[in-house]
Amino acid sequence: MHIHRLEKIWLIFGISMLGLFLTVVGVGAFALGMEPPGDHRHTVDPEKLSTTAPFDKPGLKQIGDQEYEANLVAFAFGYSPDQMEIPLGAKVHFQITSQDVVHGFQVNGTNINMMVVPGEVNRLTYTFTKPGEYLVLCNEYCGAAHEVMMMKIVVK
Ligand code: CUA
Repeated sequence: MHIHRLEKIWLIFGISMLGLFLTVVGVGAFALGMEPPGDHRHTVDPEKLSTTAPFDKPGLKQIGDQEYEANLVAFAFGYSPDQMEIPLGAKVHFQITSQDVVHGFQVNGTNINMMVVPGEVNRLTYTFTKPGEYLVLCNEYCGAAHEVMMMKIVVK
């Protein structure tokens, strides 16, 4: 009877520890769910893009000598801006997000190929070394007019 009683105590202790462990894990997961780890500048409210920098004024912005930020918003069915002029040989930091559904951003003739997800800012740095007109296409099916969703980049 004595041993049985000890086992019972250990069993209760074990269950308590398990409960405590699950609570800690649960609270931890909840906290992470409320506030995802990482750089918060990578997330953006897709419904507030018109008042959220830099997407309130999409376009090319010079940030240094031969260095630019290309801020773009994808939407069904186009991009803002719908045309962008980029100086030849400049380092361009693309920052793109979607205001509605998942789109693509593929620049023909380059290896630029991004998925554009609402709520996220996708980044990529690229230097155009050849002048010309580059067609940008959406390569993620996004609805009825997906096929005609495009913009143009002019490098000179
Ligand atoms: Cu946007 Cu397909």
